[in-house]
Amino acid sequence: MCGIFGCILKEGNAAPLIHSSLKRLEYRGYDSVGIATISDGKIFMKKDSGKIDEVHKLVNLDDMPGNIGIGHTRWATHGAPLKINSHPHMDCKGEIVVVHNGIIENFMELRAELQNLGHIFVSKTDTEVMPHLIEETLKQNPKLTFVNAVLESLKRIEGSYAFAIMSTREPDKIICARNESPLVLGVNGTGVFCASDIPAFLPITNKAVMINNGEIVILSQQGYEIHKIQDYSTVTRDPVTIEWTSEMAVKQGYPHFMIKEIHEQPEVLRNTLRMQDHYLDLMTTFLDRADEVYLVACGTSYHACLAASYMFSKLAFLPTYPVYASEFVEQHGKSVNIESTLLAVSQSGETADTLSAVMCAQQRAATVLGLTNVIGSTLTRVSRVYIGTQAGPEIGVAATKTFTSQLSVLAQLALRLSKKRGKISQDEMDCLEVNLKKMPEDVEIIIRTQEEKVKQIAHKYKDSKVFFFLGRGISTATAFEGRLKLMEIAYIPSIAFPAGESKHGPISLIEEGFPVVFVCPRDDCHKTLIGNIMEMKARGAHIIAVIEEGDDDIKSLAEEYIEVPKGIPSVLSPIPFSVPLQMLAYYISLEKGNNPDMPRNLAKSVTVK
Ligand code: G6P
Repeated sequence: MCGIFGCILKEGNAAPLIHSSLKRLEYRGYDSVGIATISDGKIFMKKDSGKIDEVHKLVNLDDMPGNIGIGHTRWATHGAPLKINSHPHMDCKGEIVVVHNGIIENFMELRAELQNLGHIFVSKTDTEVMPHLIEETLKQNPKLTFVNAVLESLKRIEGSYAFAIMSTREPDKIICARNESPLVLGVNGTGVFCASDIPAFLPITNKAVMINNGEIVILSQQGYEIHKIQDYSTVTRDPVTIEWTSEMAVKQGYPHFMIKEIHEQPEVLRNTLRMQDHYLDLMTTFLDRADEVYLVACGTSYHACLAASYMFSKLAFLPTYPVYASEFVEQHGKSVNIESTLLAVSQSGETADTLSAVMCAQQRAATVLGLTNVIGSTLTRVSRVYIGTQAGPEIGVAATKTFTSQLSVLAQLALRLSKKRGKISQDEMDCLEVNLKKMPEDVEIIIRTQEEKVKQIAHKYKDSKVFFFLGRGISTATAFEGRLKLMEIAYIPSIAFPAGESKHGPISLIEEGFPVVFVCPRDDCHKTLIGNIMEMKARGAHIIAVIEEGDDDIKSLAEEYIEVPKGIPSVLSPIPFSVPLQMLAYYISLEKGNNPDMPRNLAKSVTVK
């Protein structure tokens, strides 16, 4: 997730406006910033790593000539957050500049092809293939207009993108294109604007034109032209008036970041499936060499590790030990050694407990692998190999989209390892791959069809003094996460444990009306779980079940049920089954009058032990 912005002004310099607009997109990423303008047919560019204010102090982003320009604020996915990887990116001759939000899936092939043709790449980014591809297209077809060269190049790009592109060949135009990454235009009497998101231009204009997937846009002094990339047919679309305040706009009209981030999960899950093969393969090679692996994390990330321990065991027969990072040194500090492998999972990559477990393992020569959402964080610097979860910045303190993105990456790793080790049948493998691909759609369906129902359940149970969250097998991890969400933002004491443990103690708490949330995928544990539901019901518990669509056995036992699509394999179930629980916590928190984005006593990133 990055922010792009471009503008053509009727009068005045573009750079100060691009600078202030990028500031309003900083919530989309802040690893580096860059601006390019055109004046007198020449490109001017300033860029560097760091937050916008830091870079501005060093290079004065406002001091650039020209009434046309593009800018970018970056959330690193491919390539570390360094100056060379900052956008805009250029072709060899310095005639074409590009800013991009998204992931070009086939960039390795394109890069190799272009390098063979003599193109020199200076960055490690996927984006840099685009200016070179346009350059090459123009070289091979010198008669093409710039727009046509962009169009031809776009046809070779696979993946997600929102591009803004300028060239000295046609210095009065910005060409934009969209596939799956957001892009919106702003218009008023002073000029035209393109941006990743409405807040970027909202103080300037509230007239916006939404751009759809598969569309290319030409911005000029005359305004905007929209065409279909496929056949260049013209699309007519008038501006709409945006009634949002700036604060609402940053949240895209959602009242809180948490619910916005819950709704972003389908898009984020799509991005996690665009992970470059070589990162996954490299990590898989290290996991394959290990006899056993410690999965180390805190909070929500720990629950992803707990779920992953079932994935690695079931799919790849790899023993893994989920460990709370704050306990790692005491529990394993003396036994961890050169033969050990530790996979640290951390959204921020800065959690002090997780880093101190990593340091301890490193001092004893263990192999450290990292999974984090923040490329450039301490965890990426100290890991032998790391993978970025591609979720974009998460602002709500309660982790949601970063949890499901961690699960998706961990599932992909377990699948790869399984394939490498030949542990499961081809049919099973195919089924898992199909289901992983369809996960974004499944999550979309859950949000679309179940949110209202979850709201009603939240209203009904808002005054409950305590909740249980139960599951069996991998759903134990989902139950733990559901309970953490409810506790942290609704402040309701909650207890989670594997459902089989009820009879060893916790069931004594049950009395009439006690809400018990059961996580019930139709897996090998389903029958036994029904037994656990009956035990609770017999003692007066109210059952709130997250079930597979059409699971009549559990429907008939539950006071309330929330449905997820059918046929989701057990090892992938924590992804869709955790989504209703995130929404439940969110809506109970609202019912209680809390601010779910800023729960009391908690911080997004905890850098003390
Ligand atoms: C804090 C946050 C949690 C998060 C945990 C681990 O406690 O409030 O939401 O799960 O840290 O953070 P990490 O960045 O390491 O995943």
